[in-house]
Amino acid sequence: MNTKTKIRKIGVIGFGVMGSGIAQAAAMSGFETIVRDVHIDFIEIGMQKIKNSLKRLVQNYARTGGKKGISKETEASTLANLKTTLYLKELIETDIIIEAIVERQDEKAKLFDTLSKLGYSGLLVSNTSSISITKLGASFKYPERFMGMHFMNPVPLQKGVELIRGLSTSDDTYTAVSRLAKDMGKTVINAKDKAGFGINRMFIPFLNEAIKVVEEEILSPEDADKATICLGHKMGPIATADYIGLDTVLFICNILEEGLGSAYKAAPLLKRMVDAGYLGVKTGKGFYVYEEGKSINVNPDIRRFIK
Ligand SMILES: NC(=O)c1ccc[n+]([C@@H]2O[C@H](COP(=O)([O-])OP(=O)(O)OC[C@H]3O[C@@H](n4cnc5c(N)ncnc54)[C@H](O)[C@@H]3O)[C@@H](O)[C@H]2O)c1
Repeated sequence: MNTKTKIRKIGVIGFGVMGSGIAQAAAMSGFETIVRDVHIDFIEIGMQKIKNSLKRLVQNYARTGGKKGISKETEASTLANLKTTLYLKELIETDIIIEAIVERQDEKAKLFDTLSKLGYSGLLVSNTSSISITKLGASFKYPERFMGMHFMNPVPLQKGVELIRGLSTSDDTYTAVSRLAKDMGKTVINAKDKAGFGINRMFIPFLNEAIKVVEEEILSPEDADKATICLGHKMGPIATADYIGLDTVLFICNILEEGLGSAYKAAPLLKRMVDAGYLGVKTGKGFYVYEEGKSINVNPDIRRFIK
């Protein structure tokens, strides 16, 4: 039993970019963790991602004499804490479910309704980047036990987590979730339930503007990235958009536009990329082409488009 919090068992739904990071961080923090996705292929890819990440952390530990990374023992205990399933009913006994499925309100609402019908009565948080927490909470039988818990990518490395209360979220829920965030070693950032919350309200317009700068041929993708790296960023905006997933970036732009006006409209090139199925690292092609998660070149179609 984890003595620092009442939460002992965590369910994660969705084993994509974020779900795999959240499950890894939860298991690394000593929580029994069970992850659900809809297809065995996604489960295998998610587990492989975790194993690769743990391996890198162990190498880092050896290289830095234990100052950074994790020990071999933590790697083993993390894997022992992790379970995967295709069946939602296996998450019913968890203390909290962290939802990290696609950024679509209808899909999330359908899932919360199903959880309610299956009799789930624990805490439920959404990792949504932008969808109204109050609206999402209304699809769960216990909206007072629902709130936003917005992790940052990559979750095992990024400290920040934005916590967003919906209109119905109770004080007890907020207290339990913020304690969980701290037990996972995260820094809590409290935000209001408005379009994009705090982080994406600031950050997504920056990525969208960078895509417009590329689309208007002011800078090449590499130079757009180089420019902000010169400003001290660790990763440029074009590479970051690929890393987040261009479908997710587009969805958040649409939410910002809907909530805040046309100044937040998505770049036409962003829409085109999503139409073409170029979603970034997760599909192997975005503004850059990727092999084993590493960028190897600018996407030749982008080169042609902006020539
Ligand atoms: N990508 C980022 O950098 C980032 C950062 C913060 C928050 N988010 C948010 O996290 C959530 C997930 O984003 P992502 O980038 O990991 O998406 P993703 O597309 O990489 O993964 C989504 C996963 O959910 C699975 N899924 C879909 N419906 C499901 C269901 N009903 N049950 C179980 N699994 C289901 C899919 O099969 C897929 O594996 C979104 O709400 C997104 O806005 C993303």
